[in-house]
Amino acid sequence: MERVLITGANRGIGLEFVRQCLARGDTVLAGARRPDEARELDELERRFGEMLHILPLDVTDDTSIAGAHRSALTRVDGLDLLVNNAGINEGSHDAGGRRLYVRLGSLSAPDTLRVLHVNTVGPLMVAQAFLDLLRRGRRPRIAGISSGLGSITHAGGGGYAYNMSKAALNMATRMLSIDLRGEDIVSVAFSPGWVRTDMGGSQAPLAPAESVAGMLGVIDGLTMEQTGEFLSWKDGKRLEW
Ligand SMILES: NC(=O)c1ccc[n+]([C@@H]2O[C@H](COP(=O)([O-])OP(=O)(O)OC[C@H]3O[C@@H](n4cnc5c(N)ncnc54)[C@H](OP(=O)(O)O)[C@@H]3O)[C@@H](O)[C@H]2O)c1
Repeated sequence: MERVLITGANRGIGLEFVRQCLARGDTVLAGARRPDEARELDELERRFGEMLHILPLDVTDDTSIAGAHRSALTRVDGLDLLVNNAGINEGSHDAGGRRLYVRLGSLSAPDTLRVLHVNTVGPLMVAQAFLDLLRRGRRPRIAGISSGLGSITHAGGGGYAYNMSKAALNMATRMLSIDLRGEDIVSVAFSPGWVRTDMGGSQAPLAPAESVAGMLGVIDGLTMEQTGEFLSWKDGKRLEW
């Protein structure tokens, strides 16, 4: 039984992490920006009771992060796994919602910064805020849900803001691993594959259940030898930065 915090837990990959962690008996802290609208989480709360705690959590809002941390302290005395999952892309309402891949010539600084805030700065601030609980965790691990589009080696598709944000999340993952190695806290980034969610779209080949089952399998077996690495959802194979 693990104690797990998942950000962006009300839909998509985050919601599937919640489902699978609850099914195996974990205590789950599910961060959602608008818990009032999180119907699937409400249903899970009715089924799983005290095993699930829904926390209001906007990863771009310091006050919200501090509030989620205070609530977490009343529920658990340690955190074994932090899944930094919340994310947006250029097509998201939060980033202007104009087009999926905004091309050179049409880039906007506020929209680009919004993507970087949610996908890169947010996860780092959440990790920093929850370090005290992670330090009291068993085999504590931080898993950042990155993307193959963040690979500099394989750059091609995607858009500026999203790709930059995931490349920078990978660097944050490596920096955390260096700082936290001495405390036996593992920090890794995952490519979850191309997954059928609001972000991934209906053409994506992977169901959320398949991607998340793969990542949880890898997370279960993580060792300090893997800290700081960028890993495949499927088998934990190291991916090129
Ligand atoms: N799907 C794919 O194929 C794919 C591929 C590679 C990487 N990823 C990554 O996987 C992660 C999950 O993606 P997904 O496909 O599940 O996307 P999704 O279905 O669009 O869900 C995104 C989640 O992030 C939350 N979120 C957005 N901004 C937030 C904020 N400021 N604070 C807290 N939560 C916030 C959303 O909450 P609201 O409901 O409140 O908006 C939602 O729960 C993302 O980091 C994404 O970049 C996905």
